[in-house]
Amino acid sequence: MSKSVWYPLSRPEEDKIKIGKAQGIHLYDTRNKEYIDANSGLWNVPLGYSNEAIKAVLREQVEKFSYVNPCECESEASEELGNLLKEILHEDIDKIIYACSGSEAIEVAIKLIRKYSDIKDKSNANGIAVLQHSYHGSYYGSMSCSNYDGSERKGYGPLLSGIYELSLPFDKDYVTVCETKEWRAEKEKKLEEELAALKGKIAGIIFEPILGSAGVIRLPKWYVNKLVEFARKNDVIIVCDEIATGFCRSGSMFAYEKYGIRPDIITMSKGINNGTLPLAAIGVSKKITKEFSDKFLFHLSTQNANALCCASAVATIKELIDGKYVNTVQEKSQLFRKKFDDEIGKTFSQVYNLRSEGMMFAVELRSKDNDETLAFYDLLKIVELIKKNGVITEWSSIEDFSTCLVMFLPYIITDNEIDEIIQKLKKSLQKIIN
Ligand SMILES: Cc1ncc(COP(=O)(O)O)c(C=O)c1O
Repeated sequence: MSKSVWYPLSRPEEDKIKIGKAQGIHLYDTRNKEYIDANSGLWNVPLGYSNEAIKAVLREQVEKFSYVNPCECESEASEELGNLLKEILHEDIDKIIYACSGSEAIEVAIKLIRKYSDIKDKSNANGIAVLQHSYHGSYYGSMSCSNYDGSERKGYGPLLSGIYELSLPFDKDYVTVCETKEWRAEKEKKLEEELAALKGKIAGIIFEPILGSAGVIRLPKWYVNKLVEFARKNDVIIVCDEIATGFCRSGSMFAYEKYGIRPDIITMSKGINNGTLPLAAIGVSKKITKEFSDKFLFHLSTQNANALCCASAVATIKELIDGKYVNTVQEKSQLFRKKFDDEIGKTFSQVYNLRSEGMMFAVELRSKDNDETLAFYDLLKIVELIKKNGVITEWSSIEDFSTCLVMFLPYIITDNEIDEIIQKLKKSLQKIIN
């Protein structure tokens, strides 16, 4: 029988794993085959499936009400979440706006940037700078700001105009050449030239402090400092996209903290409510809100600020804080790294390196003669085989840049479960690479 549902990033007739039950870090299909979810859903279930505290809060909220019109009403849950987010964000953040997905949060950021420049009588300077190979979402605005490998945007144009791309400070072999004196001077000069060409043209810069979809790539501190320095001199808004990195994922509550910067806008989603219900939040600084004191922002979905979504986020963030997950993430990250290096890194010549940032991992894979990235087809075979062996992982592949196996491990993973993943990875890799 033909299928009725067309799932994301899939062909219309594609079959998926039909899940019957999900508990902790495990998924069970309807035939009861068990999988370890080493990807935390799509990076949004850090506390695992079927979390008791979240379920309790949802039951309580559903008894009171689930939905109220966000243009007329507020809820205790939406206010409590706003206060909690302000506590964990930097102190310049003044207001929280709610949205229903990471992509929608980026639409809000784009509108804030453009409207801010209009209010300040600089509507000619309404461009937005983004970074090469970044991913910010799949709606028209967020897709226009993304250029993961370029091919995904083909055929959907016209996209938003006024989006400018800055080069990343990496080469094909960036992991090894990184940070020699000459290399850095060359990259700094390039960035300075690119920014100088955008002076008077852009009103905002949107970036992921650690590129997630491109394969867990952390921006160097000097690079981020240069972006911020340019922004401060030219009244340009800095947006940190923390949709993937937020809520302890990279080993700090937010990845921007590692750079000592105070972004004007912070977009958040994924881990915010452990993937329970669709929710995103946008932190907006005083610098922007004060310009809107007699204006409203034209952005709305009738679903924004849903009380159930917000209540599950309150429960999630409280558990992240109370459980000191910032520490847990760092400890588990080091443990996974050590076991990976001992059992896999030293065993396979085609495993080029493991990039890790907290519970974000990317295993860079090379061709047999070790001078090129692994063929895309082989990468897909590896991911499929690992899945067959009971572990769900993901891939990232950008031609002439990076080819890697990606894992965003759940924070609640035990040491034994880490061992189990390592053994299953090893067993699968043995069949395909050297
Ligand atoms: C950094 C980043 N921004 C934005 C998005 C888009 O979020 P969503 O898929 O919830 O629309 C993602 C999703 O992977 C992401 O990783």
